[in-house]
Amino acid sequence: MTSRERWRVYKRVSLMFLLALLALTVIHRGNITSLQSLQRQTRMEVVQVTQLPKNTQETPHFWKTIPRLESTTDGPRITLKTAPTTWDIISTNCSVNLSISSEEWFTGLEDHFKQFLLYRHCRFFPMLINHPEKCTGDIDLLIVVKSVITQHDRREVIRKTWGKEQVMDGKRIKTLFLLGTSSHPEEQINHQKLLEYEDHIYGDILQWDFMDSFFNLTLKEIHFLKWFATYCPTTRYIFKGDDDVFVSVPNIFEYLEESRNLKDLFVGDVLFKAKPIRKKENKYYIPQALYNKTLYPPYAGGGGFLMDGPLARKLYGACETMELYPIDDVFLGMCLEVLQVTPIKHNAFKTFGLVKNKTSRLNREPCFFKSMIVVHKLLPPDLIEMWRLVNSDLICAQKSQYL
Ligand SMILES: *[C@@H]1O[C@H](CO)[C@@H](O)[C@H](O)[C@H]1NC(C)=O
Ligand SMILES: *[C@@H]1O[C@H](CO)[C@@H](O)[C@H](O)[C@H]1NC(C)=O
Ligand SMILES: *[C@@H]1O[C@H](CO)[C@@H](O)[C@H](O)[C@H]1NC(C)=O
Ligand SMILES: *[C@@H]1O[C@H](CO)[C@@H](O)[C@H](O)[C@H]1NC(C)=O
Ligand SMILES: *[C@@H]1O[C@H](CO)[C@@H](O)[C@H](O)[C@H]1NC(C)=O
Repeated sequence: MTSRERWRVYKRVSLMFLLALLALTVIHRGNITSLQSLQRQTRMEVVQVTQLPKNTQETPHFWKTIPRLESTTDGPRITLKTAPTTWDIISTNCSVNLSISSEEWFTGLEDHFKQFLLYRHCRFFPMLINHPEKCTGDIDLLIVVKSVITQHDRREVIRKTWGKEQVMDGKRIKTLFLLGTSSHPEEQINHQKLLEYEDHIYGDILQWDFMDSFFNLTLKEIHFLKWFATYCPTTRYIFKGDDDVFVSVPNIFEYLEESRNLKDLFVGDVLFKAKPIRKKENKYYIPQALYNKTLYPPYAGGGGFLMDGPLARKLYGACETMELYPIDDVFLGMCLEVLQVTPIKHNAFKTFGLVKNKTSRLNREPCFFKSMIVVHKLLPPDLIEMWRLVNSDLICAQKSQYL
């Protein structure tokens, strides 16, 4: 072989080597990409083992933030909706989805699921009572409470206790009750008049023109998110909860003080890897036809949770991409999953009942309540009584003793 021929062979071999290298890189890249999307899909299962808490510095403080388990770094692929400047739904034109009723799987469902599915596509309704002015100025904490027309005694007590609009240590607190229309059509007119009178006195009711029912709580969720995105551009934090809970607003602020560096804050009584309930007798029963995965995404019990304003605005856009799901807190967990935000579980949120033992003294222990953020469930007379005790000259040992 002449040196020239040797050179030619050498060139050919080098070129082939380069090509092979290139091909390998491409294949490898492809694997990484699909691995990432796989991780996203199974985020719920893997997030706890693959990610170490970032902030492990110990502080002796009770409200010490439980470090967030970060999800993958690439952002969610949804375009965020910008909110209108007023409530832009002025008429309801929502007819039954007839095509769904002819499907075979539909006919075997229970009536309330049928009703839900027939109207599932009707997403937004007009407002009957609105308070566009509620968020003017800088609100630090907006308290929003899910309620129904007939529970005026609960609203009354909440206004006098934890839901009181006030300035607390320089922090501005506002309160709103979220309502639909009466679920008893025959009483609708009277109930409506009473509600309007109540709102005339207190100015804290938001009401939309859909029927208040268990499955319509998801409607209440998305209506509130849209309303918030529309009217509350500068509100910092939201506490959203039920009307039968005990809440400590000072503890909320104490917690927020500790977690003020957290972005996308969503904290509550979070369930990880909850299974859809398949027993028909259960209130939360879900047929396979409606949800066929084995696990729910992480979600916080709807009894009471805390989120920051910017996240609520993003949730509005994220929920817009989702089909409605009959259980409101699970639905919100699905929206959070779209945003790739993992809710934080904190022990001071007790929304799934307190302790199994009903006679346990914790249920009546004011020091316990004093150390919590939200406790389910307390009806008006007990709430008033507990409120009085907690705000008396109560001497308690360290807060953490009940956790
Ligand atoms: C309501 O919607 C239907 C179908 O989308 C349409 O044909 C009808 O004109 C609408 N009615 C009103 C009052 O907008
Ligand atoms: C009605 O139901 C069918 C069958 O599930 C669905 O494909 C369709 O999108 C629904 N229509 C509307 C307006 O949502
Ligand atoms: C939700 O509210 C709408 C509007 O009032 C009503 O047509 C629908 O039947 C309700 N859905 C359920 C599941 O109660
Ligand atoms: C689960 O539901 C989805 C969407 O409704 C459907 O595409 C899928 O085939 C279902 N999977 C099973 C195992 O039934
Ligand atoms: C429930 O709590 C009470 C009081 O603390 C105790 O006496 C009782 O043994 C407990 N019952 C059970 C089943 O744990």
